[in-house]
Parts: sequence; structure tokens; C-alpha cells
Amino acid sequence: MDIKSARFGVTPNGEEIEIFTLAKGNGMEVGIINYGGIITSISVPDRSGGLSDVVLGHETLDGYLNHSRYFGAVVGRYANRIARGRFKLNTVEYQLAINNGKNHLHGGFKGFDKVVWKATQVDGGVQLNYLSEDGEENYPGRLEATVTYRLTDANELRIDYRATSDHETIINLTNHSYFNLNGGGTILNHELQIEADAFTPVDETLIPTGEIRNVRDTPMDFTSPTAIGRRICDDYEQLRNAGGYDHNFILRGQVAALRTAARVYERASGRVMEVRTTQPGMQFYSGNFLDGSIIGKGGRAYDKHSACCFETQHFPDSPNQPNFPSTVLKPGEEYSQATIYKFSVE
Ligand code: GLA
Repeated sequence: MDIKSARFGVTPNGEEIEIFTLAKGNGMEVGIINYGGIITSISVPDRSGGLSDVVLGHETLDGYLNHSRYFGAVVGRYANRIARGRFKLNTVEYQLAINNGKNHLHGGFKGFDKVVWKATQVDGGVQLNYLSEDGEENYPGRLEATVTYRLTDANELRIDYRATSDHETIINLTNHSYFNLNGGGTILNHELQIEADAFTPVDETLIPTGEIRNVRDTPMDFTSPTAIGRRICDDYEQLRNAGGYDHNFILRGQVAALRTAARVYERASGRVMEVRTTQPGMQFYSGNFLDGSIIGKGGRAYDKHSACCFETQHFPDSPNQPNFPSTVLKPGEEYSQATIYKFSVE
């Protein structure tokens, strides 16, 4: 494993942003910048060894500064939505930014995707640290967060998340990479399997209703490999609410154990991506809000359904949903999660 670093750009505040390139002899290469903890590229071989970059992104820092669709970024302090930006801890009520309709999304106006992380090279990868001050974006507690990206010998990009706080708080970190295993075109032909028998239905503002619904006999059933586009236009209220898939799937198996969450296969290139995680849930998002208005790497316009996200996470709006696994982090405890994106061909 070889790690190179180079200058990527300078923020409007004069902070230097670096790009780290993690490379393996066999061709897999991952770019990471310390702005937003963003994964800028993941190049992986296809069936015949040809390399393609399988994630959306920008060539320059300006691209990331000017358009935020969370391409490749670390999302925090709370990934996904909190209803009306409100939650209570003990008896104290907190009001977070309303930045998505009437709700709070992805940490607020300046979430972890828009801050500068301190980067250090570690064995096999790069470690990013960020200190989020007490009250930042109105979240309680001084939170120390660490995200480590490593490339393993098995063509896995492994992400480890750790955090501690000096005050009781809530936390839900994820990575928001947008994948297209063919390196272009649509993802509607990607075959997807999700290790989930149930999902959390949402209202028209994409806040969970609290229901836990079995996927059986619905277009949400990905328990066996199914093309993403096969039922995406079905007349099903949940698909209408989100304009496609944008839902939290409840992953099978023992929470906290690293287990398979999803497997994606793209037939033309032969590329396979397996997602493994310790998290209880995964947001499967089919790129519904992409509309061709963002021009990314190689001058490509990112159209609707040109990429999809597998955001391993705790369930959206957990602080207001007593029947969902808790996202509370207490002083003295350590938040610890891991997610692996593993690439192969078939
Ligand atoms: C997540 C959300 C989506 C959308 C994207 C970013 O996947 O669930 O609704 O906000 O992030 O555009």
C-alpha cells in the first residue's frame, strides 16, 4: 500500500486542503481530502482489468465548496433527518437548524461534510480528526470525532468512526459516497441485494412514521438480487414520497457485529461491491434529487439515478422515536462504528 499526499486547494478562510491517494499495486486507488472527509475517487478494475472511477465528485475544491450534495463526504453530527430539528435529552429541548423543508438534515448548515479535518497518515490509510465545539450547529457537548480510511489487501475500503463527548449528546455518522459501478450511465440496471427484511416507512417529508414494515410483497424487497430500476416507478406510496428509493433498511443480524448489509452487481463491467457494517440500518438512496445541474468529474452532468448511496447509519429521527435503537452518546462512552466497501469482479 502506497500513500501519497498533495495540495488540493485552499478554502476561502485560507485553510490548506490536502488530497491523500491510497493505492494498491493491483490498481485500486482511493482519493480522500481533509475538507469534509470527502472520498473524491475510488478507482477499481472491471472484469478485464480496466480501471474506472466508481464515485461521483469534483475535480477541484471549488466544486465541493460550491455544490453540496454530500458527494463522498462524512455526514454528522446526525446523518439524515430529525423531525422539525427538535429533540429532547433528559428534560432539555434542543432546536437544530431547519435546512430541509421543515426538518433538519445531515448535521445542519455546516455539518461535518463542510469542515476541515486534521489529517494524519496511519498504517494502511489516513486518519481524520475533528473537534466539534459544544453548541456547534446547536448540538450539545464538545465532540471529538475520528474517521479513519484504510485500504486493505482484499480491495476493501474500510471506514472506522469513533467519537466521545464531554456532555450527553446524540450522534449518527455516515459516509455519503454516490456509487456507479459502471463509472457512468444509470444505476437503474445495477442489481442490488439488501440484507433487510424490514424498513422504516416515511411521510412525505421523509421523516419515519415510526412503523417498521416488512419488505415482503413490496418494491422495497431486495432480499434477492434485483435491478434497482425494476420496480422504482411502481405505484407505491413510499416510492412516491421519495421520488424513488430514499429509505432506511433495518439490517439483519447482530448489531455491532461487522456483517453484510448489501451487495451490488453491475453486469457490463462485472464489478461487485459488498457493503459490510456494524450499524443497525442503511439508507439506500437512488440519487433521486440529482437533476443534471451539477457537472462533475470529466465534465459529466450528474443526472437523476446516475448514482446511488448506501449510507450505513442509525435510523433517521431516532431521537424522537422511542422504539428505534438509541443514538445517545454519554460522557465516558465511546461511539464506535465501522463500514467496509469491498470491490471485486464476477
Ligand atoms: C440522503 C437523504 C436524501 C438526500 C441526500 C442528499 O440520502 O436521505 O433525502 O437528502 O441524502 O441529497
